[in-house]
Amino acid sequence: METTQSFQMPRIGDMAPDFDALTTTGKLKFSEYCKDSWVILFSHPADFTPVCTTELTGFANEQDYFTKKNTKLLGLSIDSIHSHIAWVNNVREKTGVYMRFPIIADIDMKVAKLYGMLQPGESETAAVRAVFIIDPKGMIRLVMYYPMNVGRNMEEIKRTLEALQTSAKHSVSMPLNWVPGDKVIAPAPKTLEALDERLASKLEMVDFYLAKKALENVN
Ligand code: BEZ
Repeated sequence: METTQSFQMPRIGDMAPDFDALTTTGKLKFSEYCKDSWVILFSHPADFTPVCTTELTGFANEQDYFTKKNTKLLGLSIDSIHSHIAWVNNVREKTGVYMRFPIIADIDMKVAKLYGMLQPGESETAAVRAVFIIDPKGMIRLVMYYPMNVGRNMEEIKRTLEALQTSAKHSVSMPLNWVPGDKVIAPAPKTLEALDERLASKLEMVDFYLAKKALENVN
């Protein structure tokens, strides 16, 4: 029987594994890069390929947005540093978009394997399109994996980042299709007294366990 080689898959709630890497902006220690800010670590299959070029220019175009959200970007592919530098320069020359964020040259696949980015059923040699959103304490808060032939959705990446940051700040949850500005879900009451308070409240309520409130009312 054929066996599939299995690699470690970091999970939501795990501390993000630390590593040292060579990047387009120099050597980087991940735990230091993460300190006091959110980080989006994302992989792409290969430099000089069309879907990846649209995706990474998408990240570069949103650089100011991510900076405002206290979020650092960190790309990765299983390519050499020379390939990365040539590609970044090529994209700048052809499109005017400059990828200033560091891109890891993971030629020995060390980081890709650590983060489950190498998924042999899809490719033995190239990383899938992974996204890890990591909080300022270094905990993995969200994981996305996309195949080679489907580019990611920048609006969804921004939406989930804002959802995570809002949830962390206000201890609330986000309903289906939530976007910033929408009402959020208030935590369910945990005592009988809190239940009575909830039932007497003016929150938009299906029942006590599903109550929505505007964020300005959340303490
Ligand atoms: C692309 O970015 O277009 C691509 C890269 C690797 C495999 C398939 C597509």
